[in-house]
Amino acid sequence: MAAALEALQADITTLRLDAIVNAASTSLLGGGGVDGAIHRAAGPELLAECRTLDGCDTGDAKLTGGYRLPARHVIHTVGPVWRGGDSREPELLASCYRRSLEVADAHGLRSMAFPCISTGIYGYPADAAVNLAVTTVRETTTRLDGIERVVFCCFSPGDLRIYQRLLQAE
Ligand code: AR6
Repeated sequence: MAAALEALQADITTLRLDAIVNAASTSLLGGGGVDGAIHRAAGPELLAECRTLDGCDTGDAKLTGGYRLPARHVIHTVGPVWRGGDSREPELLASCYRRSLEVADAHGLRSMAFPCISTGIYGYPADAAVNLAVTTVRETTTRLDGIERVVFCCFSPGDLRIYQRLLQAE
C-alpha cells in the first residue's frame, strides 16, 4: 500500500513519530538551522552518538536515537549545497530522500518527518526542492512496504503552500 503523504507547519523537534530527519552537514557534528534545533532538543547524548558515526556523505543517511526528542530516532542526511544546479544537486537531493526512507524501512520504522532539506543555509530553491521531495518520496514508498506515513514538516507558511499545492495535485 502507498504511504500517506502530508504537509504541516511545525517545529520538527515537537513531532512524535518513529523518526525525524535532520538536514545535517557531512561531519554530523551539529550546526545551525534545523540541525541546531534538533541537537538542542535531543540533548548532548545525540552529539555523543554522532561522534561515533564517522560523518556522512552528501546524499547518504545515518540513523541515531532520538534521546530527549519525542521522536524515537533521528535520521541524519546531508543535502547538497546549491551551486547553480549543474553540480549534481538534484541527483544528490533525491538521494537524501531515498536513502532516508531506505534506512527507516531497514529499521522497521513506519512514520517519519522530513524538513525541507537544503533549502535553508544550503540555498536550494524551494520550489524545485519541494517538487523533487514529493516525487522521490512517492516513488520510493511504493517499493518500501513498511513506511506508512511521511510528513513534510515546513517551518514557513510559504513552504507549506508549495507542498500543499503539489500534494493536492496528485
Ligand atoms: N523545524 C522544521 N524546519 C526547520 C526548523 C525546525 N526547527 N529549523 C529550520 N527549519 P537548514 P540546509 C527549516 O538551513 O539548508 C546546518 O548548519 C528551514 O526553514 O536547517 O540543509 C547543517 O549543519 C529550511 O526550510 O538546512 C548544515 O551545515 C529547512 O529547515 C546546513 O545547515 C532546511 O534549512 C544544512 O543546510
